[in-house]
Amino acid sequence: MIARPPGGDFAERLDRYRKRVDAELTEVLRSLEDIPERLRAAMQYSVLGGGKRVRPLLVYASGELCGVDADELDTISASIELVHAYSLVHDDLPAMDDDDLRRGRPTTHRQFDEATAILAGDALQALAFEILCADGRLAARPERQIKVIGWLARAVGPAGMVGGQMLDLEAEGKRLDERGLEDIHRRKTGQLIRAAIMMPSELSELSETERATLDSFAADIGLVFQIRDDLLEVEQDTATLGKNAGSDASNSKSTYPSTLGVEGARQRAAETQRRATEALRSLRQDSRPLLWLSDFILTRSY
Ligand code: IPE
Ligand code: IPE
Ligand code: MG
Ligand code: MG
Repeated sequence: MIARPPGGDFAERLDRYRKRVDAELTEVLRSLEDIPERLRAAMQYSVLGGGKRVRPLLVYASGELCGVDADELDTISASIELVHAYSLVHDDLPAMDDDDLRRGRPTTHRQFDEATAILAGDALQALAFEILCADGRLAARPERQIKVIGWLARAVGPAGMVGGQMLDLEAEGKRLDERGLEDIHRRKTGQLIRAAIMMPSELSELSETERATLDSFAADIGLVFQIRDDLLEVEQDTATLGKNAGSDASNSKSTYPSTLGVEGARQRAAETQRRATEALRSLRQDSRPLLWLSDFILTRSY
């Protein structure tokens, strides 16, 4: 659960947004017809009952800036979380980071078995695209719908998340310089966060210049998210994180703290966040919800 922002009615809206996406995800998974029940159970286990829901919250916050109603964003926000959950299930597999704990519970392959976890991940990814195709409100404007879907496909594909995961695995046991590390982080984590912020903009009347400004914020805040994630593994314990705090070290991963030192990594995250939010503040639209979430991303403790 994300701590409440000080004052302001955005705190309540966040709670409502979190409930909205949880209800949407619950219903999407419950209502799938004619699927193997073991697969449904593994998909539900992987998606429901944990997770900060940062990406869905970014979708709604971006919707506020873009002037797009939350009613139009429920499917987009659920699709991003489905893809994110898939990426975590596969990331934890023995062939990848080999982790046993996620969101304070056994990882999906531990709770079920490896083959079921692989298939649940595959199914979650396909389902994300299926719900974007089937959404009536999106389908009413097919040119915009296809652009929305394109953001998710690029974010998760070979130049995005999956490409980043490949580079991340290839780099195990090597010492990367900051450029190499930044490239991995922007891909494996940053692109999906960028898509969460940019998908709503495809339903908006923002100008090209305004969208470019939003995109510059979105890309940088995705990097901040992963720098903070690296730092949390050093700063926090396993119980607080709900995942193994020693995972990066035991897999000999290069991380921001291992490359720049803890203080250097903190500074890089803060600088990047400052640059990102300066871009956002230059917009005339209401950037407060995204600014608040970007503060959370920089300072989060889990
Ligand atoms: C963890 O993401 C994996 C990364 C991409 C860094 P989150 O920290 O958003 O994980 P949940 O969804 O809250 O469990
Ligand atoms: C997660 O990166 C990136 C994806 C799942 C795509 P990490 O491997 O660093 O994240 P955690 O620490 O397992 O959550
Ligand atoms: Mg990993
Ligand atoms: Mg991992």
